[in-house]
Amino acid sequence: MSNLQLTWSEAELLANDDVAEPLVAGGVRCHGGFGDDGRYVSPRAKNRVPATEAWQQSHRELFDADILDAPIELWPEAFPNVAQTKHLLREGIPGPTISALTRIGTVEGFGSMIRAVNVEQMQRNFAESIDGTAIAHLQSGLFEAHARDEAGWEEEAGHRQMWFAARDLAFENPVTEDMTQTMLVRMGIVPAGGKPPSPEEVRRNAEAVRRFPDLDLSLEMMVRRMVGLLFIEVSAFHTFAWAEEVLSDTELLAGDARAAELVRFIRADETPHVEYLRTALTEMRDRTFVGESGATVSGAQVIGTLWDTALEQSLGANRESFLRTAMGEVEHALASHPRRDDILDGFRALGSEGEWAVSP
Ligand SMILES: [Fe+2]
Ligand SMILES: [Fe+2]
Repeated sequence: MSNLQLTWSEAELLANDDVAEPLVAGGVRCHGGFGDDGRYVSPRAKNRVPATEAWQQSHRELFDADILDAPIELWPEAFPNVAQTKHLLREGIPGPTISALTRIGTVEGFGSMIRAVNVEQMQRNFAESIDGTAIAHLQSGLFEAHARDEAGWEEEAGHRQMWFAARDLAFENPVTEDMTQTMLVRMGIVPAGGKPPSPEEVRRNAEAVRRFPDLDLSLEMMVRRMVGLLFIEVSAFHTFAWAEEVLSDTELLAGDARAAELVRFIRADETPHVEYLRTALTEMRDRTFVGESGATVSGAQVIGTLWDTALEQSLGANRESFLRTAMGEVEHALASHPRRDDILDGFRALGSEGEWAVSP
């Protein structure tokens, strides 16, 4: 067994590297910064990154097993794609791109809900020890670091505000707070005047989709949320590639491609999220879950079942609803345009067949 540090305090997992200069984008003070060599430094990476590497190595040595992976090839490219987006921008239709960037920022902010997970006595749910694992650090540092990266912390903006800053740099402050709200309601991202679901409603919904009734419901909810988040994190790399390419076009957009630079920094911050999630899920896969009755079920069965269910949802219902929303934004932007049909024909010609199903 190598001599690895496998136990870290919450403060250690939240610690930042020293930076020579903070990251400020469009007047917004963001997390992260720049080292002496000018390279971007992600937030809260000082110990979180080596800790995750150590847990991975330890797991490989103890279980002789690989860390599971969700390859990006499983997910389709961004829609609208780069060519379709530029086609709209050239035609003077920025609306769908502005709403896409607003949606991405808002959804990134939702990632902070991971800190609401509350599983009591984590060890009780596993037959084998979880000492020195990522599992043991989820609720004492890893979820909190993830939440802060996505939604910001104290005076430092996180990904939510960084996407908005990218949008505002490229499109020169295109929307007010009210317009943002209207846009999010139109896209079905937030309910109109409604409240978010109460903890009781969340629990009732979780009970309805529960697959392992003998396991602690909070634990199954946590695993389900982690798998869902991992899929969002990985598939988002398509969105990053799209955003970097579109936003670096200095002929079509303002801000000297600073928005694209900002997206590159956000992308760098995502890697620690993917890494800790796949590490903890692997540790669970190779252990044995213990139910409330004392009966056991293999981790491979629990993780495999929840993984397959979430993947089907991600590639099926979620993708379809996303395509509808995105196409709805294009339709909305063109609704009273005198050359609507022409522009739409050009738009479709640049896309792929799979998207036609949702086109009107
Ligand atoms: Fe993020
Ligand atoms: Fe993330």
